[in-house]
Amino acid sequence: MLRRLHIEQPESFAFTAANQAWAEAQLTKFPEGRQASGVIPLLWRAQEQEGWLSKPAIEFVADMLGMAYIRVLEVATFYFMFQLKPVGSVAHIQICGTTSCMIMGSDDLIAICKEVISENPHEISADGNFSWEEVECLGACTNAPMAQIGKDYYEDLNSSNFRDVLKAFADGNVPRPGPQNSRFAAEPLGGVTSLQDMTGEDVNGSVALAVTLGDTVKRIQGDEVPVRQAAKPTSQPVAAKPTPEADGQKPVMLEGPRDGGGDDLKKIKGVGPKLEADLNAKGVWHYDQIANWTAEEVVWADEHLVQFKGRVSRDDWVGQAKTLAAGDAT
Ligand code: FES
Repeated sequence: MLRRLHIEQPESFAFTAANQAWAEAQLTKFPEGRQASGVIPLLWRAQEQEGWLSKPAIEFVADMLGMAYIRVLEVATFYFMFQLKPVGSVAHIQICGTTSCMIMGSDDLIAICKEVISENPHEISADGNFSWEEVECLGACTNAPMAQIGKDYYEDLNSSNFRDVLKAFADGNVPRPGPQNSRFAAEPLGGVTSLQDMTGEDVNGSVALAVTLGDTVKRIQGDEVPVRQAAKPTSQPVAAKPTPEADGQKPVMLEGPRDGGGDDLKKIKGVGPKLEADLNAKGVWHYDQIANWTAEEVVWADEHLVQFKGRVSRDDWVGQAKTLAAGDAT
């Protein structure tokens, strides 16, 4: 696309006092002689102040950075995030028209922009409040179709809720960003299929689980409480402690490996170095130990030997161990 300076330009540009102080502070981040590194943040600040980048604004930034005007113009014309024409005073609507959004109905959204804002992109509406354009994929494809408005994404749009969003802006409100169809994020449209017991108010399963675990930047020691034993959200009933029958039967464990060396338990699908070390520490060293576990012992192993319960039976450790014990590969 040809990107040129707008045909009508203001006489001058200057940062507000606060933005000037901010811009000067940015330049202290760079070594002497490298102030040009601040070109994008300063251009962006100028655009945030005015809504678009005028020729005087580009020249102002170039003067501040000691750069040739053409160098800053190259940056401003290269990046599509820089608006080279005036935009609506309330909002500039950027509709994603790439594959996912197009398949899911971005054409309908563009038709509404043409009807409500202006016939052509980059044209300001008659009341001066809005403008729009079609942009390339904005990376929110699972919530297609979507639009960026200001700094925010409005997702899962359709003709109806998009009109609501535009009306809210026209009424002087800022509608809640994100999915407009009651999804919290990008969970399945037909409802969640996992983490169903981890829901809470205004959050989805992933967030609820993260909140419950609360370990974010915590260093891993290896003895953390397994996920399913962690405290559940207060709205959830506390899981009953397993009864002895449900808990299965603990298999016979070894003090150490026989003949001075254990088997390579990592050959069992789903067992990595850390889990192998855990198993050894708990007395599991050999394929034949696992191969001989009874159903009751598998229940116990599922409960006590792995962080993600059910892995022992799900991955058929007993079957795998029998194969390995016979000298075959899994
Ligand atoms: S295709 Fe629209 S956000 Fe990716």
